[in-house]
Amino acid sequence: MAANKKLLMLPGDGIGPEVMGEVKRIIGWMDKRRSVSFDVEMGLIGGAAYEAEGTPLSDKTMEKAMACDAVLLGAVGGPKWEKLPFKDQPERGLLRIRKDMELFANLRPAIVFDALAEASTLKTDLVKGLDIMIVRELTGGVYFGEPRGITTLPNGERQGVNTQVYTTSEIVRIGKIGFELAQKRKGQLMSVEKANVMESGVLWREEMIKLSAAYPNVTLNHMYADNCAMQLVRAPKQFDVIVTDNLFGDILSDCAAMLTGSLGMLPSASLGAADSSGRRKALYEPVHGSAPDIAGQHKANPLATILSYAMMLRYSFDMFEDADLIEKAIQNVLNAGIRTGDIMQPGATLVSTEQMGEAVIKELDKLAA
Ligand code: IPM
Ligand code: MG
Repeated sequence: MAANKKLLMLPGDGIGPEVMGEVKRIIGWMDKRRSVSFDVEMGLIGGAAYEAEGTPLSDKTMEKAMACDAVLLGAVGGPKWEKLPFKDQPERGLLRIRKDMELFANLRPAIVFDALAEASTLKTDLVKGLDIMIVRELTGGVYFGEPRGITTLPNGERQGVNTQVYTTSEIVRIGKIGFELAQKRKGQLMSVEKANVMESGVLWREEMIKLSAAYPNVTLNHMYADNCAMQLVRAPKQFDVIVTDNLFGDILSDCAAMLTGSLGMLPSASLGAADSSGRRKALYEPVHGSAPDIAGQHKANPLATILSYAMMLRYSFDMFEDADLIEKAIQNVLNAGIRTGDIMQPGATLVSTEQMGEAVIKELDKLAA
């Protein structure tokens, strides 16, 4: 069996290592049952990297990330490192790996599993069957724009500055991803900005309209970001694919995530440009954070990370059947009423992180039998 796919695992902080442990078991299962073999390398990121290497992402780990076929990340951050200088904070590691790998396209699906429709804080009929894909620009905008910093003005007042900036090429490359995904889905693309206030939004809208000529089978619409936030909680099923900038995407994806009942269920993929062979640099991570309040207590929901691994099979390796299999197994586990605390419902069975991983493996066994 050829071990050809190189995977770098960066568990990170908080619940990161626990949820990643369950993915390792799924990989072990795939190895045995599906003849899918990965060369798995481990690395440090975030607070864990800071403790061991004095930086939230070392050059050595960055080199490994550039050399592998895909990166799977857990989560970064925690109260322990909040007071560190900005450059040493765990989040800088995450922002650096996104930027250095040029992962400009962040795909954040918000899918409501039938068994969890009642776990949403919204009325069940509003969210049942929900399937939205948020495409967030990830390497530009106010997250990276210059000038930035805190300065002291001549009058002694301090001033914090960040810059929202987008070039046409940055808008076009993320726009194309949005159109292409919409083409494969329901053909509806919602471009979100604040063209009523921001020039970067005006340019964003103009470029999306220009692009739309090349995608006659996709219906392009536009929405201001504030309205989009409102519409997401009012009537979320009106959306198919949403394409938006880095900051709006950060906010709207958390909002969309909660429609599904729990952040603990949501995977994401961050993709770079395709090379000549069509391969993209890619990083997969759950949308949830490091949840320091429950870290080490076996309470974390590993499903978002397992689903991120399934996204990796789908987007990086074209292993659609295997991705489907994992998603189906998770659906069955949920249908059987097995729940971690974050998605607990009356009458369901509360399980630990490890028991949830085990339940998925058992379902995989059944499905593959
Ligand atoms: C996310 C997170 C990050 C972001 C933080 C941890 C830097 O909120 O992935 O959505 O703002 O991009
Ligand atoms: Mg966020």
